[in-house]
Amino acid sequence: MRRVVCPGSFDPVTNGHLDIISRAAQLFDEVVVAVVLNPNKTSLFTAAERVELIAAATKEHENVRVDRFEGLIVDFCRDNNISAIVKGLRAVSDFDYEMQMAQMNYSQAGVETLFMTTNPEYAFLSSSLVKEFARFGGDVSGLVPAIVLEQLNRRMSES
Ligand code: PNS
Repeated sequence: MRRVVCPGSFDPVTNGHLDIISRAAQLFDEVVVAVVLNPNKTSLFTAAERVELIAAATKEHENVRVDRFEGLIVDFCRDNNISAIVKGLRAVSDFDYEMQMAQMNYSQAGVETLFMTTNPEYAFLSSSLVKEFARFGGDVSGLVPAIVLEQLNRRMSES
Protein backbone atom coordinates (compact mmCIF):
# COMPACT_ATOMS: atom_id res chain seq x y z
CA MET A 1 0.00 0.00 0.00
CA ARG A 2 1.39 3.38 -0.98
CA ARG A 3 0.53 5.70 1.90
CA VAL A 4 1.60 9.36 1.96
CA VAL A 5 1.10 12.24 4.35
CA CYS A 6 0.10 15.85 3.72
CA PRO A 7 1.25 17.64 6.88
CA GLY A 8 0.50 21.22 7.86
CA SER A 9 -1.05 23.67 10.27
CA PHE A 10 -4.29 23.94 8.28
CA ASP A 11 -5.49 26.92 10.32
CA PRO A 12 -7.82 26.73 8.47
CA VAL A 13 -7.73 24.35 5.49
CA THR A 14 -8.08 26.25 2.19
CA ASN A 15 -9.09 25.29 -1.33
CA GLY A 16 -5.39 25.29 -2.17
CA HIS A 17 -4.73 22.57 0.43
CA LEU A 18 -7.77 20.63 -0.78
CA ASP A 19 -6.53 20.77 -4.36
CA ILE A 20 -3.23 19.15 -3.34
CA ILE A 21 -4.95 16.58 -1.08
CA SER A 22 -7.42 15.50 -3.77
CA ARG A 23 -4.72 15.25 -6.44
CA ALA A 24 -2.57 13.17 -4.08
CA ALA A 25 -5.58 10.95 -3.38
CA GLN A 26 -5.72 10.11 -7.09
CA LEU A 27 -2.08 9.07 -7.13
CA PHE A 28 -1.71 7.10 -3.90
CA ASP A 29 -3.61 4.36 -2.09
CA GLU A 30 -4.05 6.40 1.06
CA VAL A 31 -3.47 10.04 2.00
CA VAL A 32 -3.17 10.95 5.65
CA VAL A 33 -3.71 14.64 6.31
CA ALA A 34 -1.74 15.34 9.47
CA VAL A 35 -2.48 18.44 11.51
CA VAL A 36 0.53 19.62 13.50
CA LEU A 37 0.07 20.44 17.17
CA ASN A 38 2.42 23.29 17.87
CA PRO A 39 2.06 24.60 21.43
CA ASN A 40 4.33 27.55 20.58
CA LYS A 41 2.08 28.82 17.83
CA THR A 42 -1.29 30.44 18.49
CA SER A 43 -4.00 29.28 16.16
CA LEU A 44 -7.49 30.48 15.35
CA PHE A 45 -8.92 26.95 15.40
CA THR A 46 -7.98 24.25 17.89
CA ALA A 47 -6.35 21.10 16.53
CA ALA A 48 -9.60 19.19 17.07
CA GLU A 49 -11.53 21.83 15.11
CA ARG A 50 -8.98 21.79 12.29
CA VAL A 51 -9.18 17.99 12.08
CA GLU A 52 -12.98 18.16 12.00
CA LEU A 53 -13.02 20.81 9.26
CA ILE A 54 -10.60 18.85 7.07
CA ALA A 55 -12.54 15.63 7.63
CA ALA A 56 -15.76 17.36 6.56
CA ALA A 57 -14.12 18.96 3.54
CA THR A 58 -12.56 15.70 2.33
CA LYS A 59 -15.43 13.33 3.10
CA GLU A 60 -15.96 12.44 -0.56
CA HIS A 61 -12.48 10.90 -0.74
CA GLU A 62 -12.60 7.39 0.67
CA ASN A 63 -8.81 7.09 0.78
CA VAL A 64 -8.20 10.28 2.78
CA ARG A 65 -8.04 10.22 6.55
CA VAL A 66 -7.20 12.98 8.99
CA ASP A 67 -4.99 12.74 12.02
CA ARG A 68 -2.92 15.01 14.22
CA PHE A 69 0.66 14.83 15.40
CA GLU A 70 3.05 16.44 17.81
CA GLY A 71 6.82 16.43 17.37
CA LEU A 72 8.62 15.37 14.23
CA ILE A 73 6.80 14.52 11.03
CA VAL A 74 9.34 11.77 10.35
CA ASP A 75 8.33 10.06 13.62
CA PHE A 76 4.68 10.26 12.55
CA CYS A 77 5.70 8.70 9.22
CA ARG A 78 7.54 5.85 10.93
CA ASP A 79 4.65 5.16 13.33
CA ASN A 80 2.12 5.13 10.49
CA ASN A 81 4.14 3.25 7.89
CA ILE A 82 4.29 6.29 5.59
CA SER A 83 7.17 6.53 3.13
CA ALA A 84 6.64 9.98 1.65
CA ILE A 85 5.48 13.48 2.50
CA VAL A 86 3.48 15.35 -0.15
CA LYS A 87 3.67 19.13 -0.18
CA GLY A 88 2.27 21.81 -2.44
CA LEU A 89 4.67 24.42 -3.81
CA ARG A 90 3.10 27.77 -4.58
CA ALA A 91 6.05 29.88 -5.62
CA VAL A 92 9.83 30.01 -5.64
CA SER A 93 9.63 31.70 -2.25
CA ASP A 94 8.30 28.44 -0.77
CA PHE A 95 11.10 26.43 -2.25
CA ASP A 96 14.15 27.29 -0.11
CA TYR A 97 12.67 26.28 3.22
CA GLU A 98 10.73 23.34 1.80
CA MET A 99 13.89 21.96 0.20
CA GLN A 100 15.79 22.31 3.49
CA MET A 101 13.08 20.45 5.37
CA ALA A 102 12.87 17.76 2.68
CA GLN A 103 16.62 17.19 2.78
CA MET A 104 16.68 17.14 6.58
CA ASN A 105 13.86 14.60 6.70
CA TYR A 106 15.52 12.42 4.09
CA SER A 107 18.99 12.60 5.60
CA GLN A 108 17.82 11.85 9.13
CA ALA A 109 15.04 9.36 8.50
CA GLY A 110 15.02 8.36 4.82
CA VAL A 111 11.56 9.89 4.38
CA GLU A 112 11.02 11.22 0.86
CA THR A 113 9.23 14.50 0.08
CA LEU A 114 7.27 14.89 -3.15
CA PHE A 115 6.34 18.37 -4.31
CA MET A 116 3.23 19.11 -6.33
CA THR A 117 2.89 22.44 -8.05
CA THR A 118 -0.10 24.33 -6.78
CA ASN A 119 -2.96 24.96 -9.16
CA PRO A 120 -2.28 28.54 -10.43
CA GLU A 121 -5.81 29.41 -9.36
CA TYR A 122 -4.61 29.10 -5.74
CA ALA A 123 -0.98 30.22 -6.10
CA PHE A 124 -1.49 33.29 -3.91
CA LEU A 125 -3.55 31.56 -1.27
CA SER A 126 -2.51 30.99 2.33
CA SER A 127 -4.37 30.36 5.58
CA SER A 128 -2.85 33.54 7.04
CA LEU A 129 -4.18 35.73 4.23
CA VAL A 130 -7.59 34.09 4.46
CA LYS A 131 -7.73 34.88 8.19
CA GLU A 132 -6.55 38.45 7.71
CA PHE A 133 -9.03 39.10 4.93
CA ALA A 134 -11.90 37.56 6.88
CA ARG A 135 -10.94 39.43 10.06
CA PHE A 136 -11.53 42.75 8.33
CA GLY A 137 -14.76 41.71 6.67
CA GLY A 138 -13.36 40.53 3.32
CA ASP A 139 -15.20 37.89 1.30
CA VAL A 140 -13.20 34.64 1.21
CA SER A 141 -16.03 32.47 -0.07
CA GLY A 142 -14.15 31.31 -3.17
CA LEU A 143 -11.04 30.43 -1.22
CA VAL A 144 -12.19 27.98 1.44
CA PRO A 145 -14.78 25.21 1.56
CA ALA A 146 -18.30 26.18 2.72
CA ILE A 147 -17.90 24.52 6.13
CA VAL A 148 -14.73 26.54 6.81
CA LEU A 149 -16.36 29.75 5.62
CA GLU A 150 -19.21 29.21 8.05
CA GLN A 151 -16.90 28.53 11.01
CA LEU A 152 -14.53 31.34 10.05
CA ASN A 153 -17.32 33.90 9.89
CA ARG A 154 -18.69 32.65 13.20
CA ARG A 155 -15.27 32.87 14.86
CA MET A 156 -14.65 36.37 13.49
CA SER A 157 -18.03 37.62 14.70
CA GLU A 158 -17.20 36.33 18.22
CA SER A 159 -13.93 38.27 18.46
O1 PNS B 1 1.26 24.53 7.23
P1 PNS B 1 2.67 24.75 7.72
O2 PNS B 1 2.67 25.47 9.04
O3 PNS B 1 3.53 25.43 6.69
O4 PNS B 1 3.28 23.28 7.96
C1 PNS B 1 4.61 23.10 8.35
C2 PNS B 1 4.85 21.67 8.86
C3 PNS B 1 3.90 21.34 9.96
C4 PNS B 1 4.60 20.71 7.71
C5 PNS B 1 6.32 21.56 9.31
O5 PNS B 1 6.61 22.62 10.16
C6 PNS B 1 6.58 20.26 10.05
O6 PNS B 1 6.76 19.24 9.42
N1 PNS B 1 6.57 20.34 11.40
C7 PNS B 1 6.72 19.19 12.26
C8 PNS B 1 8.03 19.28 13.06
C9 PNS B 1 9.20 18.75 12.25
O7 PNS B 1 9.21 17.61 11.81
N2 PNS B 1 10.20 19.63 12.06
C10 PNS B 1 11.40 19.31 11.33
C11 PNS B 1 11.27 19.63 9.86
S1 PNS B 1 12.77 19.31 9.00
